Amino acid sequence: METVKNEENILKVRTPNFQFDEVPKHWILNNPILTHFINSMHIVFPDGEKFFIRSVRKYARDVKNPNLKKNIKGFCGQEGVHAREHERFWDVMQEQGLQPEGFADFLHRTAFEGPKSLEKRLVKLFERFSPGLGDKMTLSITAGLEHYTAILAQALFREPLATNKNIAPQMLELLHWHASEEIEHKAVCFDVLKEVDDSYVLRISGMGLATVVLWSYLGIGQIYFISKDKDIAYVKMPAHLYEFITTIAFGEIGKTLATNLLSYFRPDFHPNDIDDGHFAKEFFADKSYA
Ligand SMILES: [Fe+2]
Ligand SMILES: [Fe+2]
Repeated sequence: METVKNEENILKVRTPNFQFDEVPKHWILNNPILTHFINSMHIVFPDGEKFFIRSVRKYARDVKNPNLKKNIKGFCGQEGVHAREHERFWDVMQEQGLQPEGFADFLHRTAFEGPKSLEKRLVKLFERFSPGLGDKMTLSITAGLEHYTAILAQALFREPLATNKNIAPQMLELLHWHASEEIEHKAVCFDVLKEVDDSYVLRISGMGLATVVLWSYLGIGQIYFISKDKDIAYVKMPAHLYEFITTIAFGEIGKTLATNLLSYFRPDFHPNDIDDGHFAKEFFADKSYA
């Protein structure tokens, strides 16, 4: 299975069980700034993925394309397993003294839980403009975030530094597995949004909100984990920061993200326009759980 075209393929829900024994504290290039950027994703992804599932399920009954209906199920299954596997790593972070629950609680309270959370406030705000627009906007935000996860996935596969030599192998396997499934299901929420409401303004507004929320929380999480890390050698921080900026902004990752992010703004854009299905296919070729 490569990238899913919702008129044909049906997504597969795999259930790997990753082992996180002996993961070093600074598991990417021995660099705490790079490591805590991805550690922040271990917290943001699970709650985010539960939000994706909530947002798209609201429309599962209304979708007419029978394969897209099945792919919504597969999408929810894949995202559910992603959330579970990332959450399992929280125990390791806890043992490393990083107190992941502190950031997880902050994220959950401010973004998703209760009437004052960002999610509820946004729905309420858009419902005022037009009934039903609140749920459409959360679906559009989900489609935008799914574009981000797909292009981050491709960036990871393209990045020459992403090898077992530079990243703890069990963690790289987790990231590559997640990345591969993000590539496989990248068109599901986009196609549901298209079926529900094909408005360009709605799609772009969702992407705008997705951008602000995603990078804000990832940044907060990264700073939170740096502040909790008692093993950081502060004298090395300028060098770590330089490596973080050059890798993320000016390396293959930055180039891949910038090019593919802009393509989302084309009125006739579709996720399957981006040729990345081979990354997932190659990764799963020799995996027993695939
Ligand atoms: Fe995911
Ligand atoms: Fe996803």
